[in-house]
Amino acid sequence: MKLLTTLAAGAAVAACSFTAYSAEKATVKLNLDKVNPEVTIPAEIYGQFAEHLGTCIYGGLWVGEDSAIPNTNGYRNDVLQALKDLKVPVMRWPGGCFADEYHWVDGIGPKENRPVMINNNWGGTVEDNSFGTHEFFNLCELIGCEPYLSGNVGSGTVEELAKWVEYITAENGPMAEKRKANGREKPWKLKYLGVGNESWGCGGNFTPEDYASEYRRYQTYCRNIGDNKLYKIASGASDYDYAWTNTLMKKAGRMMNGLSLHYYTVKGWTGSKGSALNFDNDDYYWTLAKCLEIEPVIMKHDSIMNVYDPKKKVALLVDEWGTWWDEEPGTIPGHLYQQNTMRDAMVAALSLDVFNRHTDRVKMANIAQIANVLQSMVLTKDDKMVLTPTYYVFKMYAPHQNATFVPLEIETTVRELPGKQLGNRPLPTVSATASEKDGFLNITLTNVDLKEKAEITIPLEKIGKNAVTGEILTSAKPNDHNDFDTPDKVKTVPFKDFKVTKEGLKVTLPPMSIAALNVKI
Ligand code: AHR
Repeated sequence: MKLLTTLAAGAAVAACSFTAYSAEKATVKLNLDKVNPEVTIPAEIYGQFAEHLGTCIYGGLWVGEDSAIPNTNGYRNDVLQALKDLKVPVMRWPGGCFADEYHWVDGIGPKENRPVMINNNWGGTVEDNSFGTHEFFNLCELIGCEPYLSGNVGSGTVEELAKWVEYITAENGPMAEKRKANGREKPWKLKYLGVGNESWGCGGNFTPEDYASEYRRYQTYCRNIGDNKLYKIASGASDYDYAWTNTLMKKAGRMMNGLSLHYYTVKGWTGSKGSALNFDNDDYYWTLAKCLEIEPVIMKHDSIMNVYDPKKKVALLVDEWGTWWDEEPGTIPGHLYQQNTMRDAMVAALSLDVFNRHTDRVKMANIAQIANVLQSMVLTKDDKMVLTPTYYVFKMYAPHQNATFVPLEIETTVRELPGKQLGNRPLPTVSATASEKDGFLNITLTNVDLKEKAEITIPLEKIGKNAVTGEILTSAKPNDHNDFDTPDKVKTVPFKDFKVTKEGLKVTLPPMSIAALNVKI
């Protein structure tokens, strides 16, 4: 059953009168008169996450200087270029759960002297610490992104974390001398500092009260050194754990810049999570509706934060999100290697649309993860690399980074998912984000319907005949994907199925597609 509704982006999703509606016709009304130049989409919404997990770091980002795989100082060239093209704004590292077992001193100095450890969280793999602080910060410099460190609270000490900050940011003193001896004269800049990860679980199994006290203590000794100013992030809730947010805000809210939130599009934490490649249409729609549930979840966390922080000084950072499927058959258990299809691309587009319309509170989001783990940007195997459908979504959405947000209203049909087990999750057919920068309107549009195209009207005045360019990501089947034999099955192509009319832009989106339009204004 489908219903017609109006969705207002830039405010709560508002359901208006429901009317039976059969054709996939939609209107996306851009409220250009309501644009507030102060409201921009933070680039950090398009953030990434790299954990020592499976082949995310080793094999994915890093192959070492002596590798036969073409590399620059140990970073594989193909991935490096792909990430530069993506304009990655920020990268979180070294975990995840790994962060709370990581001791940074093991990852500095001559590689032959670095101790090995067992990666207990992720398959018991031997970690040789050849990728450490210098390798991470140098990578961020090469890509041009902000580093986001996740500090060890679970098995670390306050002194250890404080000294890590000093090692990275101090001009002088014992930690700076150590860094210089290891080949880095100038301090790096460190803005984003996470104090623990999932502290309610793998990060120490704290109660919210105990973690709030730990957070207060840890953050006290993580100093702003010289002109380096830390942006301190407390480990936040997962999904629907509103009590965690409440306690953290109550007890430590005034000592943090940000509080994290993790939300995965996952069927559940026990048993099978479903296959990344073998699924039916119901699974497809369920997944998209489940990913969209992040919107009410964000709004509920926001409403709790409002009690303690009505001026929204503390940001909500969705520093882990994305799809989580069963590992690909034949891959190493615990390495979370999964394929990435058009369905994942749709999840990326819908989730980014949600983040883009809640930037009054949500200032960063980091998809999990950048390479070879969960909903990746790239997959690598030996010297081969493929760009995933999700990668192309991030590329199409990149113009929204730091652009002025354009509020919009969408009139579209809404699918109601059958069956109680699927929950009461509505799924609008058309989703969109619009922004404005440097004399261009960037409009990204998504049609989730698997069978019907969407005819979308965007009322706009005075658009020149050749003022619009576009590209599109679509494919025949929702499980279409790129692999090492067919690396270009799913990729963006130029899009021309739009007309400039007196009423504005008339766009025809094929079924299951995501388009990006660039309009000269
Ligand atoms: O992204 C994989 C894992 O998911 C992270 O290590 C952890 O923080 C979360 O549970």
